[in-house]
Amino acid sequence: MNHFLDIHKTDTADLRAIIDQARVMKDARGDLPKGTPDADQPLAGRMVALIFEKPSTRTRVSFDMGVRQMGGQSMVLSGSEMQLGHGETIADTARVLSRYVDMIMIRTFDESILLELAEYASVPVINGLTDRTHPCQIMADIMTFEEHKGPIKGKKVVYLGDGNNVCASLLHAAGQFGFDFTFAGPQSLEPDAEFIGLARKAGAKVEISRDATEAVQGADLIVTDTWLSMHDKQSARERRHNMLRPYQANQQLMEAAGEQALFMHCLPAHREEEVTSEVMDGPQSVVFDEAENRLHAQKAVMRWCLDV
Ligand code: CP
Ligand code: NVA
Repeated sequence: MNHFLDIHKTDTADLRAIIDQARVMKDARGDLPKGTPDADQPLAGRMVALIFEKPSTRTRVSFDMGVRQMGGQSMVLSGSEMQLGHGETIADTARVLSRYVDMIMIRTFDESILLELAEYASVPVINGLTDRTHPCQIMADIMTFEEHKGPIKGKKVVYLGDGNNVCASLLHAAGQFGFDFTFAGPQSLEPDAEFIGLARKAGAKVEISRDATEAVQGADLIVTDTWLSMHDKQSARERRHNMLRPYQANQQLMEAAGEQALFMHCLPAHREEEVTSEVMDGPQSVVFDEAENRLHAQKAVMRWCLDV
């Protein structure tokens, strides 16, 4: 049994095997209608609980569809409607759910909730986003990059803006997949120094820049995300926007990067804030392939968790 908690906590060889399997499974489906089951049914007889303590479109639908395509069943649970949201401990929730279901995916706030759930569950737990990281997203991003440009090892990835949960998982991936990582954003929103240290220790070249135009030169991939995450206070909006405006992913920056650069965003995007529509809908953008690949990458993650 494997938990999928974070990219830096998963073996490099396993991460690679997950991406490879995701591609094989995607190719095998071809253009089948979305509701058609896969030829292989590795999740037959399995039940998966999908717990959401925050909103979601992609994570919710892609996990649910992925389970169904692989022959399993899923139930979507809202944290606030569970006893979890009314004082039952995480540990007890983990023990109880483990008696009913074969795997748990959770999207939550503090990382400690995910970690405690994993500690007390006797079934695999998958991180569907916490305030701190978003590993499933980055597995889909790696898969998407490699579909378009081949191996990501040695490539230059530039993250613009807020050093948030998506940025943290991308930094973890830099260490595990061996790509160079540049963060361009304000000092107060830099990614966690511990994560920078981990990536460097794993051999990744990590640079921190305040100058977006300089940072994107020669990039193979430019990534950004919302300037106000679900766990951020609405009252911080204006201050953050003022700080982050110089890091907007716009056409000028894509041109400074060069035409080899792909553009990614985990979505939901706030058009004309962190990214312009010109970039989102432009020739370098692969944001909808990225969204699709959540499905394929997570199917491979779930198989790895259950070893099926
Ligand atoms: N990218 C992502 O996780 O999207 P949702 O919040 O819609 O799940
Ligand atoms: N950083 C964003 C990602 C959403 C998928 C958030 O946490 O709200």
